[in-house]
Amino acid sequence: MKTYDFIVVGSGIAGLSFALRAAEKGRVAIVTKKDREDCNTAQAQGGIACVESDEDSFDLHVEDTLIAGAGLCREDVVRTIVSEGPEAIEDLVKLGVSFDRDPESDQFSLGMEGGHSKRRILHSKDTTGLEVETRLLEAVAKNDNIDVLEHHFAIDLITTRRLGFASPPRCLGLYVLDEKKSEVVTLRSDRVILCTGGCGRVYLYTTNPKVATGDGVAMAWRAGAKISNMEFIQFHPTCLYHPEVKSFLISEAVRGEGGVLVGQDGKEFMHRYDERKSLAPRDIVARAIDREIKVTGAPCVFLDITHQPKGFVKDRFPHIYNTCLELGIDAEKQPIPVVPAAHYQCGGVQVDVNGLTSLPGLWAVGEVACTGLHGANRLASNSLLEGAVVATRAVQDVMEKLPPGQEPEFFDLPEWTSGNVTDVDELVVIYHNWDEIRRLMWDYVSIVRTGKRLQRAATRLQNLSREVQEFYWNFKVTSELLELRNLVQVATLIVDNAAQRSESRGLHYTLDHPDRDDKNWLRDTVSSRV
Ligand code: SIN
Repeated sequence: MKTYDFIVVGSGIAGLSFALRAAEKGRVAIVTKKDREDCNTAQAQGGIACVESDEDSFDLHVEDTLIAGAGLCREDVVRTIVSEGPEAIEDLVKLGVSFDRDPESDQFSLGMEGGHSKRRILHSKDTTGLEVETRLLEAVAKNDNIDVLEHHFAIDLITTRRLGFASPPRCLGLYVLDEKKSEVVTLRSDRVILCTGGCGRVYLYTTNPKVATGDGVAMAWRAGAKISNMEFIQFHPTCLYHPEVKSFLISEAVRGEGGVLVGQDGKEFMHRYDERKSLAPRDIVARAIDREIKVTGAPCVFLDITHQPKGFVKDRFPHIYNTCLELGIDAEKQPIPVVPAAHYQCGGVQVDVNGLTSLPGLWAVGEVACTGLHGANRLASNSLLEGAVVATRAVQDVMEKLPPGQEPEFFDLPEWTSGNVTDVDELVVIYHNWDEIRRLMWDYVSIVRTGKRLQRAATRLQNLSREVQEFYWNFKVTSELLELRNLVQVATLIVDNAAQRSESRGLHYTLDHPDRDDKNWLRDTVSSRV
């Protein structure tokens, strides 16, 4: 058993920001299931929304966030995160993060995205997340108080309840699979922080990297923490449509710079759905594209930015331009084929603005968590902001709730027992189940839902869940099996929460109840095992 003052699970902006601050107070382990840079943050293109210009104000950013969130944002949380944004940006700049600046004024060059009433997106060309991740990792590498445990897969949280202790419920640490040694280690800490990102891989089509399998939500659920609003899965309207490259995002910033959505016939269609046209909030644009595709039978729509002067796209969006060009699409000369794809989990482990969950000793920060910032639909580029701001607040909260030297009673934790198990020899079943979950979630629980489809999905997930549990108990654990176990759990939570909400709001749209019902549903959905 290894003991740390803080254990952070996940190595994106939330996890690294937390770890760097917590390391001033004690020893930190960062547990990450692949290489340290394998996370959603590193893939983020658009940027970080923050009020940085004289023409903008906190009030406007709050208002835009509340409008996108369709009545379910927590206004106090929104205001706190928005108003603490500039300080978080300053901290990132101090760590060496280089945001693009206007060459003449040296002020930040601010981009535009859907749902924003002002230019407020700080960016580093179109690889903002990679820039942030790289600088944070450089700082972590220089810090002797932080151990980064790569290829360590967090299996489950260890709690007093799980161990059958009579003392009040709290988190005590976690069991972690050391993938390279194929053995399970026990990590002990009174302060565990989940920063595991979202669950895009639960869907067949997603902009998320392979690691986004909802591990944090599934673990927190099994440990008895409350989970909220999982029905609100954001579908990004513009994922590249290409047979070889399935998860490549075409940033919303492309529309912010004038890109327009057109059909197979080259004609614009968004004016038929919303007066903000191609820059309407994502739920509206994704639903409109879904409808266009269904009505016309075309496999995709197109994003056209060819009207910009030569060299503009290449300079402002080099990553997108070059990736498309390698696939034979010259975005300066031809429209880019796009489809909507699962992008962001707006619900998650229920927390307050400091990341505190309903389970003492457990905090959650970033996409894994539901603070109330996003409500029923996240405003573009608010998520990196949330990760940075809440990570700082969480360190303060942890130190106030559990100051060093005042830890609760110390328990020695039992080692992991795996019983009489054999290696998984039926990997094919795991892959089959994985595909089945992702396809059924896409077909039955994506942009447009119905009660009947949700019921079908629930029935299939019950069977899959039984099968996966059997594997889990009878075979040696592998990361593939653990991811599958988490995926089926998270899919079930999405379906449960979606089935509860008998109205349409934000990202949850059901044909059975196409209207918003403020009388009955101006509230979160909550799932809890205890
Ligand atoms: C994008 O670049 O379109 C993604 C930004 C975000 O999801 O916040």
